[in-house]
Amino acid sequence: MTRPTTPAHDERAAPARVDPAVARAVLHGLGASPKRLPPWLLYDAEGSRLYERITELAEYYPTRSEQAIFERHARAIVAHALAGTAGPALVVELGAGTAKKTVVLLEALDALAPGSTYVPVDVSASALVEAAARVDACAAGVLVEPLVATHERALDALAGRPGPKVALFIGSSIGNYPDDEAAALLARIATCLGPGGALVLGTDLKKSPAVLVPAYDDGEGVTAAFNLNLLTRINRELGADFAVANFRHVALWNEAASQIEMHLESTLAQRVVVRALDRSFTFAAGERMHTESSIKYDCARVDRLLARAHFVRERTFEDERGWFALHVARAR
Ligand code: AVI
Repeated sequence: MTRPTTPAHDERAAPARVDPAVARAVLHGLGASPKRLPPWLLYDAEGSRLYERITELAEYYPTRSEQAIFERHARAIVAHALAGTAGPALVVELGAGTAKKTVVLLEALDALAPGSTYVPVDVSASALVEAAARVDACAAGVLVEPLVATHERALDALAGRPGPKVALFIGSSIGNYPDDEAAALLARIATCLGPGGALVLGTDLKKSPAVLVPAYDDGEGVTAAFNLNLLTRINRELGADFAVANFRHVALWNEAASQIEMHLESTLAQRVVVRALDRSFTFAAGERMHTESSIKYDCARVDRLLARAHFVRERTFEDERGWFALHVARAR
């Protein structure tokens, strides 16, 4: 009698290598009531690719609005950030990606403070290779020092560097952090910059839900795929058995919190096994799991946030429709 053979690879087995941060986040988030998952889990390779597509969607105005501000005001933004300083500066960008949007600012930096250094920070090494090539081609006088790191490690590493410093935190990424976490991150930036250092901060502004909701629930379904990809990631990385077709993407406007929220809604009662955690989780029909918030600010909220982090807002540049704002703030 032949013995049954063991498959070389069991699709449903717990994966051999588990990222403890992912395991912790999923254990904590699926065990919470209501369930939630942190937004950073959206950005695996596929999630990052889908986010790039989102930035090109007709409904997703933030990237284009910010770009319009850069194109119109790049020189004024950089001049204001460098005000009172002389000679080359150190410009650090958190979450730089491929630096596609930043080159306009770096061209202005090249003209106003030649010999400056640009440190694009990201967790993706391949994105930074692209960023370095792009800056070399467009702003040849700017030295590029890519840094593969989390925001916190990068800020610690750069804190002791001499000379005037400017931090770029653009793209409205700040809006994906609750206020307490945002204030803590901005305070770390202020410490890294030292007194007199400048922060260039992008924030999306409050506007009609008729504009906001489609920006996060587009007609092509790219944002839905971006949100649902989170379940595919957990299946792959933690050996879970989420049936992705049994969940739907929900984007809603929360007026009281002034934020767009993304949720994943279970379309039926179901149980999901997560092998790497040795746990299962039940979902009721219609139960929602929160995956991301995107805060839409007014200037008073920006000022409160900056003040908590020891910054003072000095200048604000808006696009023609008043949909997006870029602030230059000074560390006290
Ligand atoms: C990265 N972040 C600024 C985006 C936003 O608009 O909050 C993330 C995003 N989520 C869905 N679409 C875009």
